[in-house]
Amino acid sequence: MKRFTSVAPLDAAELLALVERGVEMRRRLELHEPAGHELAGRTVANLFFEPSTRTRLSFDLAAQRLGANVITLDSEVSSTTKGESLRDTVLTVTAIGADILVVRHREEGAADQVAEWSGRPVVNAGDGTNEHPTQALLDVMTIHRKFQDLRGLSMAIVGDIAHSRVANSLMAAMSTLEVDLTLVGPSEWVPPETSFTVTHDLDEVLPMVDILYLLRVQTERGSVVDDRYIERYGVGRERATRLREGAVVMHPGPINRGVEISDEVADSPRSLILEQVANGVPARMAVLEALGAGT
Ligand code: NCD
Repeated sequence: MKRFTSVAPLDAAELLALVERGVEMRRRLELHEPAGHELAGRTVANLFFEPSTRTRLSFDLAAQRLGANVITLDSEVSSTTKGESLRDTVLTVTAIGADILVVRHREEGAADQVAEWSGRPVVNAGDGTNEHPTQALLDVMTIHRKFQDLRGLSMAIVGDIAHSRVANSLMAAMSTLEVDLTLVGPSEWVPPETSFTVTHDLDEVLPMVDILYLLRVQTERGSVVDDRYIERYGVGRERATRLREGAVVMHPGPINRGVEISDEVADSPRSLILEQVANGVPARMAVLEALGAGT
């Protein structure tokens, strides 16, 4: 693999091979095995030009657990604040010795652009509203660990889908893996043209799904939360009781408690939110390993 900037080019076998490797990596982490040597002598550069908690920390740890050197650029304190362009920053980081670059940036297409400029393997850690492929991978891994076979499962993505790179990557993964997907949200937040079933009525889909995947409202991209949104799409105790037995609730984080999800639901046994976070490290180990093989 040369770059992991989008889920779309992967077929089901390729996606599931990464998931299987992630599951194997998770086993390794749970046994507290010493770091592996897959990326020994290699340097992974984390370039984060947008805020991040889970994604950044887990890429950092994933690279360390494969034996890599890790350098992290925080855009707030880097020379981008002195007017250095993204291209010059990337050329600098590459000249310093980065072998693999992990990039989060507000512009769609930034990760592919970085791959072109650097000539190095690149992981897209989120580019604007476009894609967040390792989030989709860790989500697939979480679903796989819970349900084994994904085919035939039924899933609803709820909320600000139009502005969500997580939703975009997830939609690509779910169609590749033949999961029955429904998009739920106010009309201005569901994509106008999609091959998936669309509904504006959350209550109608609650009893039908195995996986309820909630999204944060992307206020930094101009979306506005109001009481009507919370009333129609917020998932609290009462709505959760209408889910099937065995159905799970997922969310990529950060969660806004009291908006898209209540405390009770976020902290309930149905919630896989922290399980998703836990799978972030091994899933990213699988991706970095696959990219490292070509360096
Ligand atoms: C998401 C992101 O940044 O795209 N978070 C994450 O990486 N887990 C989702 C979000 O910010 O809502």
